[in-house]
Amino acid sequence: MRFLVTGAAGFIGSNLVRMLLRQYPESQVLSYDLLTYAGSLANLADVQDETRHEFVKGDIGDGALLSEILARFQPNVIFHLAAETHVDRSIQSSDPFVEANVVGHTRMLETVYLYFKKLYEKDQQRFKFIHVSTDEVFGSLRLSDAAFDESTAYNPLSPYAASKAAGDHMVRAWGNTYGLPTVNINCSNNYGPYQFPEKLIPFMIMRALGGESLPVYGDGKNVRDWLYVEDHCAALIAASEKGKIGETYCVGGESERSNLQVVEMVCNALDEVKPRVEGRTYKEQVEFVADRPGHDFRYAINCSKAKADLEWMPVTSFEEGLKHTLAWYLHNVQWLDDIRSDEYRQWISAHYKVKGSV
Ligand code: NAD
Ligand code: DAU
Repeated sequence: MRFLVTGAAGFIGSNLVRMLLRQYPESQVLSYDLLTYAGSLANLADVQDETRHEFVKGDIGDGALLSEILARFQPNVIFHLAAETHVDRSIQSSDPFVEANVVGHTRMLETVYLYFKKLYEKDQQRFKFIHVSTDEVFGSLRLSDAAFDESTAYNPLSPYAASKAAGDHMVRAWGNTYGLPTVNINCSNNYGPYQFPEKLIPFMIMRALGGESLPVYGDGKNVRDWLYVEDHCAALIAASEKGKIGETYCVGGESERSNLQVVEMVCNALDEVKPRVEGRTYKEQVEFVADRPGHDFRYAINCSKAKADLEWMPVTSFEEGLKHTLAWYLHNVQWLDDIRSDEYRQWISAHYKVKGSV
């Protein structure tokens, strides 16, 4: 197998690359990533000497470079994860989201299609383009609503969600119009090792350890469905093996928690494994701040179709996953320090300016 992974230096991508190399000992993996603020070669450091793996720095929208790479590497599966991913950043400025998740993404589909067209029929038959998308394309649920599934109508409500929804539609258009063999995955909130510390869980871990306030948006009652990153990667691999061409699969962790519950769980776990020097609880650092504009209230996923067709299910409980995640961040304090570049610090100050708090 020859796997090409875009967004491979990011959080989910780097976990996927490791899993592919582990699960397919005969495989070759090419990691393709632009190394934006969210991507780092540090995330792939443990596979940098692996002869079956190579890294290429490039933009998904760079048709010339990407076609050269495709022609040389000849992948039979492409996992497409590269994107701008942080909702708060999309609220500050939607341009990079449109550029990467719509324009670059569509150029990538064109480039991949030109590659696909030139393959021999037998290679076309085993080729798959797995697109990694989000449950945010479906909008927001109330507590009483049934979870999202593959039949839920699109209703993206943030600039990030709208850009990903456009991306999903383009993927389906390329499948329907040109016959590109695509599978779309709409997934819930991931957490785990190597997640950039702008997302809720690593952000709270980092700030708790730094003795800083833990900013909970609004009243902290918004709900997310948490999926351990390795369970997501397992679903992506299952989709590459068993996913039906043209289909969409909703993937989630069946672990709904309110944001306040999550933050308090992080605090409780830290109180146990890394107590504050003066012995007080990290929960004292929680601070309720202004809400995210247009904040989606609840996401939840019904993953019955993925369970049936992909023979996959989430196997890591939120408690267990959070424990692994915390242990990883505590053992990788240097990674956390290194990844907080000047660019990130600048973003943090802009972020709080927007929130008008902290
Ligand atoms: P991330 O922000 O950690 O990583 C994104 C990666 O994409 C980075 O390495 C970045 O350098 C790269 N990238 C950005 N623009 C690029 C471009 N134009 N060309 C090439 N590379 C580019 O994101 P993540 O959390 O790992 O998410 C990966 C994918 O999964 C995204 O498509 C995201 O929408 C989707 N997703 C994420 C979650 C989640 O909870 N993290 C949930 C559902 C879906
Ligand atoms: O649902 C899948 C999506 O999950 C992915 O598509 C996105 O790429 C990913 O970023 C994530 O989006 P969210 O907006 O749900 O994740 P985030 O970690 O930014 O926030 C999770 C919740 O926590 C959300 O309700 C906002 C809240 N929050 C977040 C931060 C960073 C806070 O209360 N305080 C914070 O400081």
